[in-house]
Amino acid sequence: MKEILIDTDCGVDDAAAIGIALAHSEVNVLGITTVNGNVGVAQVTENVLRLMPVLGRGDIPVFRGASRPLIAQPHHAGGIHGHNGLGDVQLPDAGKTFESAGFAEGILRLAREHPGLTLVALGPLTNVAIALNLYPELEELFGEIVSMGGALGRGNITQYAEFNYFVDPESVQVVLESKVPLTVVTWDAAVKMAHSEEEIRALGLGDSKAGKLFFDMHQPVFAYIEKSYGSRMAMFPDPLTMAYVVNPSIAREELRGDLKMELTGSPRRGASVRQKGERVKLIMEIDKGEFQSILLRIRNLA
Ligand code: RIB
Ligand code: CA
Repeated sequence: MKEILIDTDCGVDDAAAIGIALAHSEVNVLGITTVNGNVGVAQVTENVLRLMPVLGRGDIPVFRGASRPLIAQPHHAGGIHGHNGLGDVQLPDAGKTFESAGFAEGILRLAREHPGLTLVALGPLTNVAIALNLYPELEELFGEIVSMGGALGRGNITQYAEFNYFVDPESVQVVLESKVPLTVVTWDAAVKMAHSEEEIRALGLGDSKAGKLFFDMHQPVFAYIEKSYGSRMAMFPDPLTMAYVVNPSIAREELRGDLKMELTGSPRRGASVRQKGERVKLIMEIDKGEFQSILLRIRNLA
């Protein structure tokens, strides 16, 4: 059983990743922290507070996190995740509220109670960097950080950079300079995991109430990709990351290296360049069949 904390900028693929974690007994979700990213942190937090009771886990504590990156201005993902970040699916308000404790204190408490936990970061690394800055003992308490981000090939928000690392590249630098074991599930891996809407429909994702919820949430993503590239597809970066956390053996290509972040104001800002070294495990490809099996288990949630 892997004990995990999820840090999320809950957009639609984050929601599916949270669903994957809750659908697998291999992981135990200790808490969730929210961060500015796909949408503003207030909306991200509202999305998580409404999603968790729908998935039967309103007991999991939610901590509201950073409202903007360490240095840069906030940057959101636009309409890709719909206006509300959940594909414009309206979830009921179960009256759940976020914890009164600060997110960094919440992370510290849970890490002290569960030394060796895995922090699964599905958005920009702003919260992770702030928590490490405030409480350096977290470098010993965290077992591993698994972060969805970076691109060695073409990015998605610019041709050079992947969204999470583009939004807050300074926070990536802080995490790289820590000594916490770091695994990065890259955008390159997500591109190789692209599925058409028809493939996802044929897999039967929508064959349950929960599965249909996640399928419906992805409609703006299919529409955005269709408008940009001519076919209704999705890449599932965060579900891919959580599938790896559930079962790391599904990785099919791993690289080791140091990552050099482009921090200047150039057009390359947010680019993550692999260099010689051992700091980061980069996940470049995941097994498609194994991922599909893990993804489909979210149908069991309701
Ligand atoms: O680049 C993809 C990443 O940016 C995903 O985590 C998505 O949810 C957004 O946060
Ligand atoms: Ca995300």
